[in-house]
Amino acid sequence: MSNLKQEILKLLKSDQFISGQEMADRLDVSRTAIWKSINALKTEGYSIESVTRKGYHLREHPRYISPTALEVLVQDSALFSHMEYFETTESTQIEAFQKLESRDGAYIVVALEQTKGRGRFSREWFSPKNRGLYLSIVLRPNIPITEIIRFNLFISLALSKTLDQAFGVKSGIKWPNDIYISNRKVSGFLTEVVSESNVINAIICGIGINIFKDEGVSALGTATDIESEMEPGRKVDLDDFMKKLIHNMEVYYDRFINEPFSCIRDEWKSRAIVFNKDLRITETGESYMAKALDIDSDGFLEVLDETGEIRRVVSADIEL
Ligand code: BTN
Repeated sequence: MSNLKQEILKLLKSDQFISGQEMADRLDVSRTAIWKSINALKTEGYSIESVTRKGYHLREHPRYISPTALEVLVQDSALFSHMEYFETTESTQIEAFQKLESRDGAYIVVALEQTKGRGRFSREWFSPKNRGLYLSIVLRPNIPITEIIRFNLFISLALSKTLDQAFGVKSGIKWPNDIYISNRKVSGFLTEVVSESNVINAIICGIGINIFKDEGVSALGTATDIESEMEPGRKVDLDDFMKKLIHNMEVYYDRFINEPFSCIRDEWKSRAIVFNKDLRITETGESYMAKALDIDSDGFLEVLDETGEIRRVVSADIEL
């Protein structure tokens, strides 16, 4: 996205109405340049209304991530060096895996729709067009594979914080990979790795977020979406969300590389929603009821099962 279009968007976001002349004066360009950029923004999906004697007004943000806006964010990013953008694809995880050989460094793959979106435990991740965010991030830390548990803790914190900051919601973390709002799942992530001799070559972390209300998602009964959970009148701004997500990913990935879990343990616990509840835990085929007691310094969940035994859970499916 050109700088002028970005500057115009900033003005439209900060003011209720602003005239073409005022924008031209503030940005020191001609009114024709403003008019051309506004038309280009409309083509990209921004709903900009012009009202006589009042000026321009941003009625709605696009209901999808704009590729040009994402390109700018990635160019400015200290962590990610490129991005791939698909209108539709089977799965951004598949695309991300396919690029591992031909691409260096960290990158992001985004799709507006997935036809074979996948979740943990080989479940389907329902990914209807322009209803959710479907993205995979590829990172290449040179660390032992056992560190992946800690990675999930840092990323879950970054994701939950970003949802709250961008949409004004109050989300919580359902250990290990889910984000909930009002007792319903709004987002989940799937962490896959490529490793050699127990050292990680690449982490491929796929994130799915239900953004706009969709009947198929609502029918699941246990899921919610951002639009339904936001304060009435507040608008979903996906460009702003992506900006904050990339920033928080940079911050928390850096912290993951340099800090132990104990540095974020209190903050993580303050967002955890698994404590003081009866949980059904399924791990390696065994299913049992338990109460979560704590999370230890390695990121393992300590639970008290029905027989009174304390167990350390590494990775499991948890039902609240
Ligand atoms: C889960 O909750 O089980 C994890 C869901 C992860 C879904 C995302 S959507 C983007 C990426 N591509 C996929 O096929 N899956 C992940």
